[in-house]
Amino acid sequence: MIELVGVRKVYRAGGKDREVLRGVDAAIGRGEFAAVFGRSGAGKSTLLNLIGGLDRDYQGSIRLDGQALETLSDRRLTALRGATAGFVFQNPVFLDHLPAWKNIAFAARFAGGPADRPSLLPLLARLGLEEYADARPNELSGGQQQRLAVARALAGKPKVLLCDEPTGNLDTETGSSLIQILRDLNIAGMTLVVVTHDERVAEAAGRFMYLSDGRLAEGGAS
Ligand SMILES: Nc1ncnc2c1ncn2[C@@H]1O[C@H](COP(=O)(O)OP(=O)(O)OP(=O)(O)O)[C@@H](O)[C@H]1O
Ligand SMILES: [Mg+2]
Repeated sequence: MIELVGVRKVYRAGGKDREVLRGVDAAIGRGEFAAVFGRSGAGKSTLLNLIGGLDRDYQGSIRLDGQALETLSDRRLTALRGATAGFVFQNPVFLDHLPAWKNIAFAARFAGGPADRPSLLPLLARLGLEEYADARPNELSGGQQQRLAVARALAGKPKVLLCDEPTGNLDTETGSSLIQILRDLNIAGMTLVVVTHDERVAEAAGRFMYLSDGRLAEGGAS
């Protein structure tokens, strides 16, 4: 489902080049649940953005659902991303003047699916947000917002869910319920790549990877 070969990423900041990824190799199969650990600044968010086709500025090869991203035009990459990848960002941003369900509707419409309120209620219900369909995102708690971010990512019917610290701002109990949601999605066949510092996510994931010194290693320290 995801294959990276010799992926390098250089950021230029303050007139200096910094190589954040220095040859990442990895293969994540369909239906796998991979947890990615690594220190702050190790390049985890950078890696997720590359896998999901949000950032084209890299060297090496990235295959997503069988297609080498570097060979695609911008237009085809956008189409592949829309059909394949759902992002749950580290700090989700919503349209706060719109109700929760409409925030999801945009993603559903972009994916070409039904985007009306009745069609989207089951998805909100699946994430325990049925009572909050008409609430504004800034009226939701942190944990509810995190679940809304998952709902938005799922609205596009992705094949891969890329999550960046989904339990980072949650208390133990709320975090556990989100992990259970990820686990259920995986059982239903979803491929998951979850960046995390949370041991419980690693336990839920079948696979555990560690990003350090610009390379991705299997297993490793936590
Ligand atoms: N747009 C950017 N321009 C320049 N440097 C960047 C940019 N984005 C990230 N970096 C640098 O790349 C490195 C990796 O950043 P990244 O956000 O991928 O880390 P991370 O592993 O997700 O960290 P955290 O756990 O704190 O979220 C950092 O040193 C950061 O300063
Ligand atoms: Mg990050």
